Amino acid sequence: MGKALIVGCGGVAGVAIHKCCQNSEVFEEICIASRTKSKCDALKAQLEGGKTKITTAQVDADNVEEMVALIEAFKPDVVLNLALPYQDLSIMDACLATGTHYVDTANYEPTDTAKFEYKWQWAYRERFEKAGITALLGSGFDPGVTGVFAAYALKHHFDEIHYIDILDCNGGDHGYPFATNFNPEINIREVTSKGRYWEEGRWVETEPMAIKREYDFEGVGKKDMYLLYHEELESLALNVPGLKRIRFFMTFGQSYITHLKCLENVGMTSIEPIEFEGKQIIPLQFLKAVLPDPASLGPRTKGKTNIGCIFQGLKDGKPKTYYIYNICDHQECYKEVGSQAISYTTGVPAMIGAMLVMQGLWQKPGVYNVEEFDPDPFMDALNKWGLPWQESFSPELVD
Ligand SMILES: NC(=O)c1ccc[n+]([C@@H]2O[C@H](COP(=O)([O-])OP(=O)(O)OC[C@H]3O[C@@H](n4cnc5c(N)ncnc54)[C@H](OP(=O)(O)O)[C@@H]3O)[C@@H](O)[C@H]2O)c1
Repeated sequence: MGKALIVGCGGVAGVAIHKCCQNSEVFEEICIASRTKSKCDALKAQLEGGKTKITTAQVDADNVEEMVALIEAFKPDVVLNLALPYQDLSIMDACLATGTHYVDTANYEPTDTAKFEYKWQWAYRERFEKAGITALLGSGFDPGVTGVFAAYALKHHFDEIHYIDILDCNGGDHGYPFATNFNPEINIREVTSKGRYWEEGRWVETEPMAIKREYDFEGVGKKDMYLLYHEELESLALNVPGLKRIRFFMTFGQSYITHLKCLENVGMTSIEPIEFEGKQIIPLQFLKAVLPDPASLGPRTKGKTNIGCIFQGLKDGKPKTYYIYNICDHQECYKEVGSQAISYTTGVPAMIGAMLVMQGLWQKPGVYNVEEFDPDPFMDALNKWGLPWQESFSPELVD
């Protein structure tokens, strides 16, 4: 079918690249390009020999000219951005300059402010429309599958959705007192930010981790979960008509919270540069350097994730409740692709988003979030490519 350029070669990219190679009818050729080329070469050596042709390249994705030169040389049908959120805009600029479709899993963040907002990427809408190319934003699990679940619920189960609660539970245990399951810098920036949810047309802000609930997750059991701001709240609040409230909860164990509080209290999670031995360093980046690499957690992590959405609304004039979720086993993921479930649940939908864009099923000129496309082919692909979903019509609700 075609060619994809995959930018980044970390935890999520590793899974997406495994999945592209399993799906060689669509991904006939891929180029893995990242800052550290040796990681791309190591993955190529591991996966070579199948039907997908793999090449590798070194690229600084912050540099638009370098990205343009790489795209012009490789001529991909789509660029799948699995580097960090900081690179989103430079990669989108390179896609515009070369007329190439774009897919990512996380919204742009400036390096100096921890702020999750789509405004920077939505500002590219007209330019992508004029160039006749598609930018698909947030094709991971959350954001990503959660938005597809919302579109699917709206298409097949509701006339109006009034309440959405997104529940993200990681019941995995890696045996370390403190480690993050994906890029520590991005993860800690997310959980130390203020909580925020959307209700009756306005944002309600809370102190970080101020709202706590307990929930009994299928496949995992009872867990404490905390209200966080998460980027899909912004797009879903706009794209689900008639919505009255949307919230996002994530589970954290007591050890994680205690360590995080301590690190925060001593200033280690700060993104303000400080002077250290004549050099400017950013405490959070230093912390990242001393924490376990998320990629190394794969062989140690046991247990399951359960991520999904509870919808409440109306169907044929009657109140209806619907819960749709995926349960994913850390060790099964490790057996299949050599990584834990957090990277797996993001890498699989990233491959699916790129596939649907390449196949033309999810193509329309402009910049779109996942819930703005027909959810059905994505939902079928989740079942086929390793993230089967389940549904319940009488779930426990979150107060
Ligand atoms: N939507 C979701 O559900 C979800 C969930 C988890 C993560 N994510 C997103 O997925 C993305 C990847 O996360 P991850 O956990 O895989 O992170 P990661 O393991 O840190 O990998 C990031 C990769 O990007 C590369 N990179 C960083 N800056 C670069 C640059 N300027 N030029 C070229 N390559 C660069 C890194 O290169 P080096 O190897 O040289 O460091 C690394 O290979 C992030 O944007 C994250 O926010 C989304």
